[in-house]
Amino acid sequence: FAPKLLAGQQVLITAGPTFEAIDPVRGITNLSSGKMGFAIARAAREAGAEVTLVAGPVHLPTPRGVRRLDVVSAQNMLETVAGQAQAATVFIATAAVADWRPATSADHKIKKDGSGAVPALAFVENPDILATVAQSPRARSGQLYCVGFAAESENLLEHASAKRQRKGVPLLVGNIGPATFGQDDNALLLVDADGHRELPRASKVELARQLVAEIARRLRHTRAA
Ligand code: C5P
Repeated sequence: FAPKLLAGQQVLITAGPTFEAIDPVRGITNLSSGKMGFAIARAAREAGAEVTLVAGPVHLPTPRGVRRLDVVSAQNMLETVAGQAQAATVFIATAAVADWRPATSADHKIKKDGSGAVPALAFVENPDILATVAQSPRARSGQLYCVGFAAESENLLEHASAKRQRKGVPLLVGNIGPATFGQDDNALLLVDADGHRELPRASKVELARQLVAEIARRLRHTRAA
């Protein structure tokens, strides 16, 4: 029988949203369900890879045979990913990482003082996990193949191409709108140095399998070169 497409690969995946605390009971997050990243973890495992899934707060079961590490904030996610990336051969960033976090997080619940005054929130920028990993020596030397995602509401090809270059990754995958948060299907636009191709609308599980095959093909080419 044919060898599995990702046999021998160590695949590291981020998925879901991040949660950025304001105080012990409040925070900001986004509507990412984590379904696409979890589907990719499952497909990569089925293709024979050792898979580590770094998940923000989501309500999804862990795919069979996948090692899952739960994190909360973007900073937690970066620390966990940085520790795992040393051993990885493929990094797939599907997480919807919060772009900003509150500059400070209160130790105790912020209380209303009865005057009608509202708290002012100041934000600082979060680290870009994908760009950080893509700049690492392992990624730059081709030992770690990095894949990014993009959700855009318009001009997907243009934005995805620009994002591919800005993040310094060989493959950037665009979610073809409308927003697919929480849905079970999606359509993808794959953008690499040679051009682009579309994976038409299908279930996230089916698209994940196709994406894994596309990644495996590119790994064979880059590593044979
Ligand atoms: O810049 P933007 O958020 O649109 O880029 C999306 C891609 O970058 C996704 O692959 C996402 O997982 C990754 N990303 C990240 N860390 C961030 C922001 C985005 O890894 N702070």
